Amino acid sequence: MKTLLLIGIGAGDPEHITVQAINALNRADVLFVLDKGQTTNDLVRLRLDICQRYIRAPGYRVVQVSDPQRDSSTPSYTEGVEHWHEQRAEVFARLVDEELADGEFGAFLLWGDPGLYDSTLRILDRVRAGGCDDFDYQVIPGISSVQALAARHRIALNGIGQPIRITTGRRLHAGDLDNVVVMLDAHCAFAAYVAENVDIYWGAYIGTADEILIAGKLADVCEQIKQAREAARLRKGWIMDTYLLRRTSH
Ligand SMILES: C[S@@+](CC[C@H](N)C(=O)[O-])C[C@H]1O[C@@H](n2cnc3c(N)ncnc32)[C@H](O)[C@@H]1O
Repeated sequence: MKTLLLIGIGAGDPEHITVQAINALNRADVLFVLDKGQTTNDLVRLRLDICQRYIRAPGYRVVQVSDPQRDSSTPSYTEGVEHWHEQRAEVFARLVDEELADGEFGAFLLWGDPGLYDSTLRILDRVRAGGCDDFDYQVIPGISSVQALAARHRIALNGIGQPIRITTGRRLHAGDLDNVVVMLDAHCAFAAYVAENVDIYWGAYIGTADEILIAGKLADVCEQIKQAREAARLRKGWIMDTYLLRRTSH
């Protein structure tokens, strides 16, 4: 039997790796590094740094493959994602088939935590459904960007006894503003709510040398965040940011 290890590596700080993740890295015969193209070379580099820093046993193989990208021009978002997952499943099936021998462990180094806005588990379901099922898999949790955001702003995510919602920029709406973490927001969805009594705790590239943190009353810092975000995106060619919105009484 082949085994895949889905290892959460944290959201940018190499010191956010858990002991369990280090042990899993050291069990791997093959490390699969998915390359999302020129602009995210930094993310590939971080994964390779993690391998060099934490893997004690020499002799592991690194297999770098280009990860299919979602076609954002597809009119239907769900169809676009469906097609993209299909393409990724083909790549994963080929990796399991061609790059992993029976009895070997193959590791995917997954950003943040594998259970939060990461499609790898769903892709593996597809791979199995497609008939490539001679493998087992294990999930090693990681520190997500949400936890990193809370730690860097030194805040608790929830109010006392209160719920908290995690959503995407696309799905954010006015009814959510009590306490909501927003991820995957390419269009500054928060800007629609400047007239509300809301605080924002925003972070980009959290845990990395490029980290930017801004917090305050949304009406006061909205423009500052938009400008900092755009300048950083142009400078680096990509951006990852996350934020908490919390309704206040003032
Ligand atoms: C595809 S999701 C992956 C989430 C990841 N599995 C996690 O646990 O954080 C990518 C989104 O996570 C957030 N993100 C990931 N890393 C981040 C970082 N270092 N700083 C800020 N946001 C980050 C951003 O909202 C980004 O759009």
